[in-house]
Amino acid sequence: MVVASWCPMHHPPQILIVDDDGDTRSYLVDALQGHGYRTLEADAGQVALHAIRDEPPDLVLLDVHLPDQLGYDICQRLRDDSDTTLLPVILMTGVSTEERVKGIEAGADDFLTKPINRSELFARVRSLLRIKEYHEVVQAQAIQLRALNRELQVKLEQETQLAEVARMVGDIGHDVKNLLMPILTGGELLQEELEELFAKLPPQDAQQARDSQERCTDLVETVRKCAQRIQAQVRDLADCVKGLSTPLRKQPCDIAKLVDTVYLNLRVLANRKKIDLQTEGLATLPCIQADEGRLFKVIYNLVGNALEEFNKEGTITVRGKLESDGQHICLSVADTGPGMSPELCSTVLQKPGVSHKPGGTGLGLKIVKDAVAAHNGEITVESELGHGTAFHIRLPIE
Ligand SMILES: Nc1ncnc2c1ncn2[C@@H]1O[C@H](COP(=O)(O)OP(=O)(O)O)[C@@H](O)[C@H]1O
Ligand SMILES: [Mg+2]
Repeated sequence: MVVASWCPMHHPPQILIVDDDGDTRSYLVDALQGHGYRTLEADAGQVALHAIRDEPPDLVLLDVHLPDQLGYDICQRLRDDSDTTLLPVILMTGVSTEERVKGIEAGADDFLTKPINRSELFARVRSLLRIKEYHEVVQAQAIQLRALNRELQVKLEQETQLAEVARMVGDIGHDVKNLLMPILTGGELLQEELEELFAKLPPQDAQQARDSQERCTDLVETVRKCAQRIQAQVRDLADCVKGLSTPLRKQPCDIAKLVDTVYLNLRVLANRKKIDLQTEGLATLPCIQADEGRLFKVIYNLVGNALEEFNKEGTITVRGKLESDGQHICLSVADTGPGMSPELCSTVLQKPGVSHKPGGTGLGLKIVKDAVAAHNGEITVESELGHGTAFHIRLPIE
């Protein structure tokens, strides 16, 4: 394939005049320079070819009869060379049809008959330069399109790879969950088994049995906690990758119901920590178009995070209100927990991926942020040490 190279237009345009007749050259130079064009001159074919190679002009005015070769041959050579195949050439011929036919066959773009008429000269030069300029625009657009195409290809490859990774992470997550199940339920059964076993031991071994039972209980508890952490980490990782690789599935979404489900899932932990789970204003919210699964993760992570931070009793409230523009809702997850330092508060959403608790992944807020962004929403946080934290999410209704 011949790839035609292209020289951007000079400003003002540069025209090479190839003619062995000095008078014709002077006439053309005067005329063209008088119209603001820059000119270069060559008095023979070889000189012209060198000049074109050294400093490609925007247009060539080429005499047919040169001392060393014919204008047609030069024109043909220019057409055969990928560097000059698009260079506009006007052949200066006599009146004969035969000369013109030869010129067309050699690839000339236009003709001027000697003696050259000034108005015709300018009309033909202008017309060919205009075409060159169009070519230039097309060329620039082709370059942009090629770059865009490359970018799209890279993106497509990345997305294909991401989808593959997401599938793998999903599969691994599924396997890990299945493998953890016997550890978690086995731990509970082992615990019960041990209690029964130790209860049956003769009274003289009672003290030794109690010590041993305590150690066993601790060990079983450690195993169960580790298994639970692994389960949570795998879940976070799978959620995070899935959020990045799966398109939104929007449907009418009832926020009050969604928050109820989140609370149902977290009620046992909340009760154990003596945390009151409250809602405000959710019942009057309109249904919004959203991906229910992704929004569930948002609320679940925010309430779950708040729960984990509490070291004494308190309250978590999910509040909802319709924004004054009537197009958005604002959801707030507020807690009366220990709050965050100003440094943490200012970075926690900007640089997610950092956990400050044992066994944390730091992926929770990333999952939240990605899901909110996918819904064209916004998320902010405010917090005060010792007083609590509130995350505010603004979501479009449609
Ligand atoms: N309600 C909150 N109160 C105080 N700190 C919070 C709260 N929510 C999040 N954080 C802080 O943000 C960090 C990142 O949270 P997250 O991305 O969910 O990761 P992880 O829960 O695995 O630590 C937490 O480790 C915690 O320090
Ligand atoms: Mg978390």
